[in-house]
Amino acid sequence: MIAPPPPPVIHQIKQITTAAPLVVTLSHRAATFGLTMNAKAAGCNRDHPLKMVVSVDKKQLMTVRLKSSKTRALSADRPLKPGRHKVRISLSGGRRRCARATVDELRLKLTLVPGATPPGPKRFIPLATAFTSSPAERVGASGDLFRTSFDGLTPENAMKMTYVETARGTYHFETPDAIVDYGRALGKSVHGHPLVWHTQLPGWVLRGKWSRGDLEAVMHEWINTMVTHYKGRVSEWDVINEPLSDDGTLRPSIWAQVIGPDYIPLAFKWAHEADPTAKLYLNEYDAELPGKKHDALVALVTKLRKADVPIDGVGIQGHWNLQAPPINEADLRAAVRDFVKAGMLIQFTELDVVTDGSALQQITQADEFAKAARVCQSTTACTRFTVWGLDDNMSWRGVGSAATLFDRSYTPKPAFIAVRAALDAG
Ligand code: G3I
Repeated sequence: MIAPPPPPVIHQIKQITTAAPLVVTLSHRAATFGLTMNAKAAGCNRDHPLKMVVSVDKKQLMTVRLKSSKTRALSADRPLKPGRHKVRISLSGGRRRCARATVDELRLKLTLVPGATPPGPKRFIPLATAFTSSPAERVGASGDLFRTSFDGLTPENAMKMTYVETARGTYHFETPDAIVDYGRALGKSVHGHPLVWHTQLPGWVLRGKWSRGDLEAVMHEWINTMVTHYKGRVSEWDVINEPLSDDGTLRPSIWAQVIGPDYIPLAFKWAHEADPTAKLYLNEYDAELPGKKHDALVALVTKLRKADVPIDGVGIQGHWNLQAPPINEADLRAAVRDFVKAGMLIQFTELDVVTDGSALQQITQADEFAKAARVCQSTTACTRFTVWGLDDNMSWRGVGSAATLFDRSYTPKPAFIAVRAALDAG
């Protein structure tokens, strides 16, 4: 188990201006609020300093006069009662040219004062992201973003069968290995995705004239090779991805049509044999709200559990859209409860919320993300919270949808603050 990273870094907007103070609401059980930042005020000087005031719940924590573009490392601590607190960083003074401060590596630490009663084991819920390890993600500013703001990754496409087993028995591990090794070198955990899916399959599989036994052999070899190759580096897998049609019936994938419904227990069995320590998930979309698909998934995992199939949990993808009705948080909580009652762990595995790209919808978007994060935090069965795309440049929904937690300039949106606060509320 990779040790949880240091307290969350809320990697703030690169600039705070006199016109726009930064306000962050934190809720936590830790007993001290700590803050460190590197701040500089380009364009200011001793005659026209910029006054920065940091307050917590309207009480000043720190006042600083920034007089030059020289970076200053600042920090302060204050014991706080557990609960919700509002941190406000405002700027005043200066003159037009220097009405901005550049703040980066802003860390709002949540630590205990010496002697404080530990509030009990704090549950750490990794915040992870789909990752392609493209140059922009690895080297550019976003590379810093992944390192400082996420705890894990899921290879977005690199582990898909069409890209790895390009011919039967011929495997290309270079790209997925690079992503896995990059994440692990940063101390991040990796979620394997996906083993058995109805799409992104290589032509040799789709074009084959398979008997049941032959296709079972193909699936067995694929699963065994992948899980064995990543054993010790990948500790959890989406073994089955999207097995159900929208009406809750078994999706007529090649696997279902040739092997039959048994392809699902067989896949879990073979994954477990390859790595008995790995946590094995069934990952689905649109099954987290009331309806036929939800009921069918509950029935499926209940049946698998009863048959001692080595399935550990359900992945809730969460590809949401502000054009659809808002997620009913009570329904989401009830859906998660159904899966937990069936003996499942839970992960939110692919959260994104499509917007119209406007700033106004960023607030609504934050509400939607926060609903999922609150529901995850509310049950110890929820082990991970993954968003589908590091930032809006990387989103499969398209840049215009602004569907992720960070905008195109890698600036955190209200959704990131809301998710971080909800996951850390434990
Ligand atoms: O890499 C090729 C590029 O060389 C080529 O020029 C380009 C145009 O054809 O295609 C590129 O591959 C695309 C790949 O994404 C990488 O960008 C594929 O066409 C495209 O189909 C693929 O889409 C991915 C999709 O899964 C299908 O694999 C999305 O990025 C990815 O976000 C999406 O993720 C899925 C999850 O795996 C499962 N749950 C649903 C989710 C959304 O569909």
